[in-house]
Amino acid sequence: MKGIFIVMEGPDGSGKSTQIALLKEYLDKIGCECLITREPGGTAIGEAVRKIILNPEYKEMSDVTEMLLYAASRAQLMAEVIGPALEAGKIVISDRFVDSSIVYQGIARGLGTDTVAAVNRPGIGKYEPDCIFFIDISEEEGIRRKKVQKKLDRMEQESIDFHAMVSRGYREVLSGRKEVIYIDGAAAAEQIQQQIREEIHRRIEAMRNQRQKDGPV
Ligand code: TYD
Repeated sequence: MKGIFIVMEGPDGSGKSTQIALLKEYLDKIGCECLITREPGGTAIGEAVRKIILNPEYKEMSDVTEMLLYAASRAQLMAEVIGPALEAGKIVISDRFVDSSIVYQGIARGLGTDTVAAVNRPGIGKYEPDCIFFIDISEEEGIRRKKVQKKLDRMEQESIDFHAMVSRGYREVLSGRKEVIYIDGAAAAEQIQQQIREEIHRRIEAMRNQRQKDGPV
């Protein structure tokens, strides 16, 4: 794998999308080609699956169905977009990845983290994120922000207890992992962006140095 795989994770309303848009602006300015993608979605098939998953009318959706649909969208995204882009040496920034499923379906829905990891493995294959920005925010603040922005989707309409499990789940699953960069989501958006840019800069430099050492492939 020659590219850099960056993932943005966090509960609903943590501000991931805003940060990704600001980051893209910056990377374009410094001449780093990058590809932005989102989950669920990011492909024609994935966007169709997204409409099913998030439709508030489908109250009858079973937890297992939900897990499989997220995994299906992800498998298509890996095969069609993320895998080829990384092989071509691009920087890929994904709004959510498998840790979202581990936390939302594995912990908050109670399906188990091992089960969710196993279901997702064939679709993900050899790829893993080089860095994961975890924007941490309380469930109350996250849902409050979502409510002022738009009509809530099926997942966002879940109880505050569900979202509290998501917030706790993220801290449990992501803490102590070397590829995870913790960000306090309560800070100002500009301050968060600064932190993200510094970290990305370091990673791009490290990758360039490594490539110079390795020589042409
Ligand atoms: P997202 O696109 O981040 O929501 P929005 O753009 O509205 O902020 O994610 C959609 C919802 O899907 C969100 O509530 C989190 C949930 N989700 C899971 O439960 N499991 C998953 O694997 C993924 C990728 C998302």
